[in-house]
Amino acid sequence: MAPDTANTPNAAPRLSDEAVHDDGFLRDLWYFGALASEVKPGETLHREMLGEPILFGRTHDGSPFAMRDICPHRGILLSGGRMVQKDGESTVECPYHGWRFRKDGGCAAIPSLTADQAEAMDLSRIRVRSYPVHEAYGLIWIYIGADPDAPPAIEPPVLDLPEGARVKMVERETFNCHVDHAVIGLMDPAHIPFIHRQWWWRTEKSVYEKEKVFGPVERGFSMLPHRPSSNSFAYKALGAKPETEIRFQIPGLRTEYVKVGNSFFTGFTAVTPTNANSTAITIVVYWKHPVFDILPNFVLRKAITTFIRQDRDAVNAQQKGLAYKPKLMLIHDADVQAKWYYKLKQAWRKHRQTGEAFANPVKNATLRWRS
Ligand code: FES
Ligand SMILES: [Fe+2]
Repeated sequence: MAPDTANTPNAAPRLSDEAVHDDGFLRDLWYFGALASEVKPGETLHREMLGEPILFGRTHDGSPFAMRDICPHRGILLSGGRMVQKDGESTVECPYHGWRFRKDGGCAAIPSLTADQAEAMDLSRIRVRSYPVHEAYGLIWIYIGADPDAPPAIEPPVLDLPEGARVKMVERETFNCHVDHAVIGLMDPAHIPFIHRQWWWRTEKSVYEKEKVFGPVERGFSMLPHRPSSNSFAYKALGAKPETEIRFQIPGLRTEYVKVGNSFFTGFTAVTPTNANSTAITIVVYWKHPVFDILPNFVLRKAITTFIRQDRDAVNAQQKGLAYKPKLMLIHDADVQAKWYYKLKQAWRKHRQTGEAFANPVKNATLRWRS
C-alpha cells in the first residue's frame, strides 16, 4: 500500500508526474522561438520558454540550433560562454570550465582532462538536451516535446506567405500573466470598443452587431475570409475590397491575412509562455502593398504598439483581480473563441496522452456579437 502522506503533518505533498507538469503549457508542439535576425552565425541567445532556460545558437556556417541553457557540469548558463569553431565544427563553450557542446547537445571536449583521461572517457554520454528547430520566413521555430528524446510529432507550422516574403516590421511586448489570459485577451472581440477606443479604429458610435463565420483549421480555427468591418477607418484606407482571414492555432499562434488583389498584408502574432507569470508577445509583419510601402514606418508601428500596449495594460490590470482567484465566466458568442482555445488544449493533451487521433473540437459556426 502506498504511504498515506495526506494526514501526516508537514509531509510534502506527493505530486504525480502529471501534476508536476501542470503548468498549463502545451507540449509536443512547435513554438515561435526567436527571429532569425536575432541569432547571428557564431553567436548564442538566451531565452526562457515554458519556464525552461533555452539557448538559441547558430553555427559559424549558418545553421540554427537550440539546447537547454544549463551546463550539465555545474549548472551555469551556457549562453554566458561563446561559440568556438575548431576543426570545422562549431561548438558552444561553457564559460566556467570550458566544456564544449555540439549543436546536438553532445559533449565535444572537457579541457581539464589529460590525453589519457580523455581517451578513456566516452564524452558522448554527457549530453545537454537539444531541441529540434526550423527556420522559415525570418522565424526560428522550436519543438518542445514532453519527452526530450522523441522526434517531433508534427511538422512545423507554415505561414501562408508568397515565396521570398520578408519580415518588414517586428514589435514585442511582455504581458505579466499566464499565457491563457494573454491568448484569450487577444482573441476576445468584446473588449475592442472599450480597450481600443480611438478615432481611427473604433469609437463608441461605431459599435454595432457583427456576424462572423468560423471553421476548423489544423489544430485551431479560422475566422473565414470576409470583408472587414466597414466601420474601420484604417481598413478603408487600404482601397479596393480587402479580404481578411484570421487564424488561430495552438499553442498561441494568430495570423491575420489581408489580401487585396495581388497585394497582401500578413500580421503574425506569437503568444509564447516565458513562465507561469510572464508571456512574450511577438508581432511580425509581412506585406507587399503600395499603401504600406509609401506609408512611413512609424505610422504602422505606432498603430501596432498602441494596440498591443492597450492589451498589455488590460491583462496586467486584470492580474490584480485574479490574485484573489475569482471564478470567471465565458459568456455567449463573444467568448466562444476562448472556449475553443481551452477545448483545443484539452483535446491536444488527450491526443498526446492516449495516442488517439487528435479530434479538433471546433465546428463550423456563425458567431454574433456587438463590438
Ligand atoms: S559548469 Fe560548465 S564546464 Fe563546468
Ligand atoms: Fe485587444
